[in-house]
Amino acid sequence: MQHRKFGRTGWSISEIGYGMWGLAGWKGTDQTEVLKALDMSVELGCNFYDTAWGYGAGASEQILGRLMKQHADKRLYCATKIPPKNFKWPSKAHYTLEECFPAAHIIEYTEKSLTNLNVDCIDLQQFHVWEDSWAHHDEWKKAIEKLKSEGKVKHFGISVNRWEPDNVLTTLRTGFIDTVQVIYNIFDQNPEDNLFPVCRELNIGVIARVPFDEGTLTGTLTKSTVFPAGDWRATYFVPENLNASVDHAEALRPLLPAGMSMAEMALRFILCNDEVHTIIPGMRSVKNVIANTRVSDGQRLESTLLKKLKQHRWDRTPTEWSQ
Ligand SMILES: NC(=O)c1ccc[n+]([C@@H]2O[C@H](COP(=O)([O-])OP(=O)(O)OC[C@H]3O[C@@H](n4cnc5c(N)ncnc54)[C@H](OP(=O)(O)O)[C@@H]3O)[C@@H](O)[C@H]2O)c1
Repeated sequence: MQHRKFGRTGWSISEIGYGMWGLAGWKGTDQTEVLKALDMSVELGCNFYDTAWGYGAGASEQILGRLMKQHADKRLYCATKIPPKNFKWPSKAHYTLEECFPAAHIIEYTEKSLTNLNVDCIDLQQFHVWEDSWAHHDEWKKAIEKLKSEGKVKHFGISVNRWEPDNVLTTLRTGFIDTVQVIYNIFDQNPEDNLFPVCRELNIGVIARVPFDEGTLTGTLTKSTVFPAGDWRATYFVPENLNASVDHAEALRPLLPAGMSMAEMALRFILCNDEVHTIIPGMRSVKNVIANTRVSDGQRLESTLLKKLKQHRWDRTPTEWSQ
């Protein structure tokens, strides 16, 4: 496992981190297998874990808390998130800061996360939605100052809304935010336009989330894929999205080098960008953990392939199903 310096946090984090949403929020999870997968990830050098109170109302955080205790001899970095007070994902431009992140709510949910994670201090606390129009409010900054001065949080970050990578640029300039989490993959290359240059200038840590476009970039979804009722993906992969996403993913298949899987190509594409410090694929099986951590071997994609993949950029804008 290779490591990268996580912006101004100074932490040396694994190029492949661990996305912990699906294991406590999606249907069909085998909890015994998940625990084996998490153990295996530690063994294979993963040291960055991304969770949220919103992933199973604290269930995912509790799983991470137990993992950190079991591996107390290793430095595992925990990143979690504060849900918006109105519990609506993502935020909309007309939502106010008071509706989403009043100071008391930031503090209340940080206390809940501390309990769930069973730690005295959270390495990285992130806002789970964001509107850049909130940049100049003092409310959230006061809460940050209080939690940091009490030693309850080391760094604060923002997880930007799907397909809105620029909806944080002014906030990053306030100096209160040390990291950003953004969707970045073969399709979603738009963080390269404005967000990554600002992160480089300000030495902001960058987490690439949803590396597989929620699954299509693994090449395992088809136009007939059906998700169980109650699984979030059933509401995201509506026919309009599933059909278009599968078409875009299938267009990549002819580019696959011999012996490389679609998932591997998707991760390698992201690792070719030094602006990214860690990728957090969602993983619920030992098999996927082994496959994904193996990709961090220092080998870059061939430049001609990288150029071709760049042409598969697919700019999308939020819709009622994109969430
Ligand atoms: N608003 C936010 O802040 C926000 C939103 C979304 C996600 N996130 C974070 O980002 C993380 C990653 O996003 P995500 O989990 O939604 O989507 P993702 O990482 O793009 O895709 C996850 C899917 O890929 C599958 N997969 C993983 N490795 C594979 C491999 N080697 N071969 C084939 N399939 C593979 C997983 O299967 P299994 O599950 O069966 O292993 C799962 O179905 C989340 O877990 C969460 O931590 C944050």
